[in-house]
Amino acid sequence: MAGTEQLEKLRADALAALRDVADNDALETWRVKYLGMKGAVKSAMKLLKDLPREVRPAFGKLANEVQQALSSAFGSRKQEFAAGRPAETTPVDMSLPGRTVRMGHRHIITQTIEEIIEIFARMGFTVARGPEVEDEWHIFDALNMPAEHTARDPLETFYITPSVVLRSETSSVQIRVMENQSPPVRVVSPGRVYRPDTVDATHSFMFHQVEGLYVDEGVSMADLKTCVDQFCKAYFAPDVRTRFRPHFFPFTEPSAEVDISCHACEGQDERCPLCKGSGWIELGGCGMVDPNVLEAVGYDAEKYTGWAFGLGIERMLMRKHGIPDIRLLFENDVRFLRQF
Ligand code: FA5
Repeated sequence: MAGTEQLEKLRADALAALRDVADNDALETWRVKYLGMKGAVKSAMKLLKDLPREVRPAFGKLANEVQQALSSAFGSRKQEFAAGRPAETTPVDMSLPGRTVRMGHRHIITQTIEEIIEIFARMGFTVARGPEVEDEWHIFDALNMPAEHTARDPLETFYITPSVVLRSETSSVQIRVMENQSPPVRVVSPGRVYRPDTVDATHSFMFHQVEGLYVDEGVSMADLKTCVDQFCKAYFAPDVRTRFRPHFFPFTEPSAEVDISCHACEGQDERCPLCKGSGWIELGGCGMVDPNVLEAVGYDAEKYTGWAFGLGIERMLMRKHGIPDIRLLFENDVRFLRQF
């Protein structure tokens, strides 16, 4: 019987075509072609009225069966795509290695800050944090800087308003800690600072410092030297040497700059990029807290003495990891950062 043969052929062709369907777009095209309003099944059904009366029931029954079979095959295929299963025709190489998920990690500056905190925690220091936007009292006045001090110049400090700045050093945290706590005080304070410095291999307009502050009865410069020296030996290497050069800071008296010995050349190479042959690399400033600073926060300067330091974190880690240019730390090139 011509009509039923046509229906069987339609069913076979449609199911074969469905097996070759590889994605959702092709599946939709298949649906329109076979099950759509103007599709092959509907067209076949239109033949019914032209058939002899006695064959119509069998033809109608088969047409319904074909339609149901194709609808159900379509439904299964659709579910397969929704579940993300590859089409039967897509070759799968089970021997391929799985996709590696690339893990991120903390920036080398963050890692260094954590390392510094860890070393000082072993010496009994806690951690204090202060705001990066500071008022004049905490960054200048209480730190014993007179109105005409050069650090107040807009060439040295970023101003937000005439009396609010981006802090140019972490020393303002000394004041904030002492305002809120009676002696003894033993804190380190790492954080970002900002200066309108010209950017080069060792200078950035934004960098990090770690401040240290120890105030108690009978604290001496010898404690400062020992503590900084022990820190440098723990962070850099046990055989690293430290040197204290007389210097001036308004908030410490006496003041010094602290240098560490150059491991790269030991002072033997005039072209050494780290020490230029001097054998020493500058880390930061330090000194005995000026009595004016202790009095500004209400401490009894006759009873208490203290010391403070402020070290450049980028300079430290550049020295330790052999990084030649500070800009590499801020460019966010993951090929560089991934190394640490
Ligand atoms: C100070 O900032 C003082 N507050 C340090 C201090 C604290 C002295 C407590 C006494 C008591 P100085 O300006 O030298 O000092 O900066 C300290 C360190 O910050 C420098 O030795 C250097 O390591 C780092 N540093 C300074 N400027 C930059 C810069 N533009 N880029 C990167 N690191 C810098």
